[in-house]
Amino acid sequence: MATVLATGLTTSEAPFIEEARAHHQLYIHQPYELYSEENHAAWRSLFSRMQERWQRYGNKHFLRGISALCLDPQRVPRLEDVNRFLNPLTGFRAKPVSGYVPSFVFFDCLRNREFPTTITIRRSDRLDYLPEPDIFHDIAGHVPMHTDRMFADTLVRFGECAHTAAEIVNGIRDESLRLRRLESIIRAMARFFWFTIEFGLMREGSASKAYGSGLLSSYGELEHAIEASEVQRYPIQIEWVINQGFEIDHFQPLLFVVDSFDHLFGLVGELEKWMRAGKLDNVAPGEPEVNEQDLKSFLKASAHPLH
Ligand SMILES: [Fe+2]
Repeated sequence: MATVLATGLTTSEAPFIEEARAHHQLYIHQPYELYSEENHAAWRSLFSRMQERWQRYGNKHFLRGISALCLDPQRVPRLEDVNRFLNPLTGFRAKPVSGYVPSFVFFDCLRNREFPTTITIRRSDRLDYLPEPDIFHDIAGHVPMHTDRMFADTLVRFGECAHTAAEIVNGIRDESLRLRRLESIIRAMARFFWFTIEFGLMREGSASKAYGSGLLSSYGELEHAIEASEVQRYPIQIEWVINQGFEIDHFQPLLFVVDSFDHLFGLVGELEKWMRAGKLDNVAPGEPEVNEQDLKSFLKASAHPLH
């Protein structure tokens, strides 16, 4: 117990999370009493240094959303408090998880207006970008957009696309062909998600502002994404996004701009049409890797279709 209290709920150092994983518990509760003073201090520093950058580079839906959530700048948020403000707006709620959520399961949560949320927080002496999500990335980076109706509906459409993918591969008899196509479809969906939900920009007048959570939760990258002359920023095109690899360990050199969340919603519908037409079956190889768990999650769903 002493160890538990000493390390709190710090990313990759939390015994509570290790235990949940050891018992294969993906859905957990948020044991709020375990957060250490260092954990709260990390939240405080992250939250306060982002204020000025959010005002300058955050898109208007984000700014509206973050104020609607009434987050405490001083303490790690309780998910039940977040949900009290969020749920009446769009039906979404943050759902605590112990770690990696296989891709079909993740998209299916979105379809049910649940957002798998990490409860650990990065170390207070390492506040800069870390490849794995933490509660700052999930709650301060993602959840503010979930207060927006059109954005919330867009996430639900993503979830529906995952079901469409499961249905499509269910119809393929040849096993190796089924796997090859599924891998390509998952890769295409992951790339689309990455270049929109995680790292998307939106046009605001003559400027571009961030709505992607990877940008909004990174002090250094948010400014870089908007200001750096070497970053390539282009109007989004599905054919480019689904064939474009990405790396997660450095600032993104290439970003895509949408006009609005109505535009984004329409693009997800378009993505689904492309999927049905077979245009996602052979996207360019490369990042991201599609892992065994992702493939299995879709195959399991395709064996038990919804309808
Ligand atoms: Fe994320």
